Amino acid sequence: MNKFWRITAVARLGVMALVLWGANSEVWAAPMGVCSNCHVMHASQLGVPSTPQDFLLKTGCLGCHTGTNAVGLGSVTGTIPYVLDTVLPVYGGAGNTSLAGGNFWFSNSSAQSGAQSERYGHNPIELGAADSKLTAPPGWKATGFAANDQVGTIDATHPLSCAGTYGCHGNHDATGIQKAHHTNTTGVANATAGVLGTSYRFLKNIQGYEADDYELQPTTAASHHNVYFGAQRNVNNDLSNNHTISYLCAECHGIFHTGQAASEGLKPNPTDALGSPWTRHPVDFEMSNAASVEESGYVYTPNVPVGTYVAPTASANLVDPAVGRIVMCVSCHRAHASPYPEALRWDMTTMIAGGSPGNTNGCFACHTTKN
Ligand code: HEC
Ligand code: HEC
Ligand code: HEC
Ligand code: HEC
Ligand code: HEC
Repeated sequence: MNKFWRITAVARLGVMALVLWGANSEVWAAPMGVCSNCHVMHASQLGVPSTPQDFLLKTGCLGCHTGTNAVGLGSVTGTIPYVLDTVLPVYGGAGNTSLAGGNFWFSNSSAQSGAQSERYGHNPIELGAADSKLTAPPGWKATGFAANDQVGTIDATHPLSCAGTYGCHGNHDATGIQKAHHTNTTGVANATAGVLGTSYRFLKNIQGYEADDYELQPTTAASHHNVYFGAQRNVNNDLSNNHTISYLCAECHGIFHTGQAASEGLKPNPTDALGSPWTRHPVDFEMSNAASVEESGYVYTPNVPVGTYVAPTASANLVDPAVGRIVMCVSCHRAHASPYPEALRWDMTTMIAGGSPGNTNGCFACHTTKN
């Protein structure tokens, strides 16, 4: 595949120019190669027709994004990040082949143990079949999360998709990822209005810092991991920040973000201060605001990440304890799928309260006295 996306001399110049232009903010774009690598003008070549695709592409999302990730992956080389493997991916540790979002292999029912595998994450229709049990997003809130466009109502006839009206990536309408790939930048994702490629991983208006290798080889310290953007909310219904990664999840799972549904008699009250006792697990909440102090023992690890509320203009991909440690949906979940039910980042059967001495993973990364 590397050869397929090889760097042309012209593209090299383009990359150099962008690197220089973005030298202070660590922004760069990828070489992509000749048009015919990816596009076909008439969905037909030498009289052999192919399935017509949006944007005259040769294939759909998974046609390009299926494979096994290898070292060297990144925007500098212009390689494709793979989100679906055809063999069991290596998950974590040495030889890791799963990216930050996890891998759809785990939720793809044809690959694992039948219907049970649907529980291991999202099942966008592009995998071949929608989730047979969950036809709508749990925690769906029909209003209140439309600042980045309203996601369409997902149901049995309108299944979840990678992008578009019923999807996560791109615009939440028929234009989907239009103009995303050719405007993609890596590094600081500042979500410039109208330029989808500057949003975090083509998630419209979401900010963050994109690790060039998509966390193929994350290290705990200074580099090689994504930095997620979070908000330091004080009041329950504060949704003034629509750029956080948890806001993206809330576009479909809104009740899990604000912790209230009209049918619940507004408990907690929308204007209540955020705090213990909680009725749903906090997100977009800064840990030093917690009533409990056990979270101060948290040490940054890409396996249980926290977000920062500092706008992602800084050049270093560091989460500085001084500038926020925000609990996020992706502190606990992978965005795509994982080897554990509910796309969790760890195995819940190893989270034994009072019976897990020395375990600092998962819930214990923050609830440091519960092991
Ligand atoms: C590595 C694959 C790849 C290559 C090479 C490529 N494209 Fe694209 N292009 C895409 C993808 C994927 C899209 C899908 C929509 C999007 O993200 O904008 C796209 C979208 C487009 C669009 C519609 C959206 C926009 O940005 O205006 C145009 C026009 C386009 N490509 C033209 C070209 C031309 C001309 C070339 C050759 C100079 C080329 N592409 C080479 C992958 C590629
Ligand atoms: C023709 C091949 C092709 C198709 C089809 C395609 N992609 Fe991509 N995609 C690529 C390549 C190549 C890259 C890496 C570009 C780079 O490094 O900047 C990429 C990168 C991405 C990224 C990472 C962006 C980032 O911030 O680094 C996302 C997200 C993505 N694609 C989503 C999609 C979705 C969703 C679809 C379908 C709606 C899709 N792609 C269809 C080739 C494709
Ligand atoms: C565009 C809508 C949409 C967005 C955005 C979205 N989800 Fe979902 N989610 C769904 C739907 C639909 C389902 C049920 C169907 C399925 O699992 O594929 C679901 C199911 C889930 C499940 C249960 C999986 C299972 O099968 O049991 C988890 C966990 C989850 N989502 C977490 C997240 C997280 C974390 C984010 C943000 C990174 C997020 N979702 C963003 C639509 C969405
Ligand atoms: C503290 C860790 C944690 C955080 C933060 C978290 N979740 Fe979860 N989530 C879990 C666990 C554990 C489960 C499965 C067990 C359970 O449901 O209690 C779960 C289950 C789910 C489910 C399936 C619910 C069902 O009805 O089966 C969805 C959807 C989901 N989470 C989405 C989200 C979204 C969206 C966010 C952010 C707004 C979020 N989660 C934040 C730990 C978390
Ligand atoms: C990224 C850090 C983080 C992770 C991981 C995490 N939590 Fe939390 N959790 C918090 C914070 C911060 C609070 C708020 C505590 C407070 O306000 O005193 C909280 C609150 C809670 C509460 C409510 C406490 C109250 O006073 O109402 C429970 C229960 C809880 N978490 C359980 C879990 C479980 C179970 C897991 C693992 C599935 C988990 N948490 C993972 C940070 C985390």
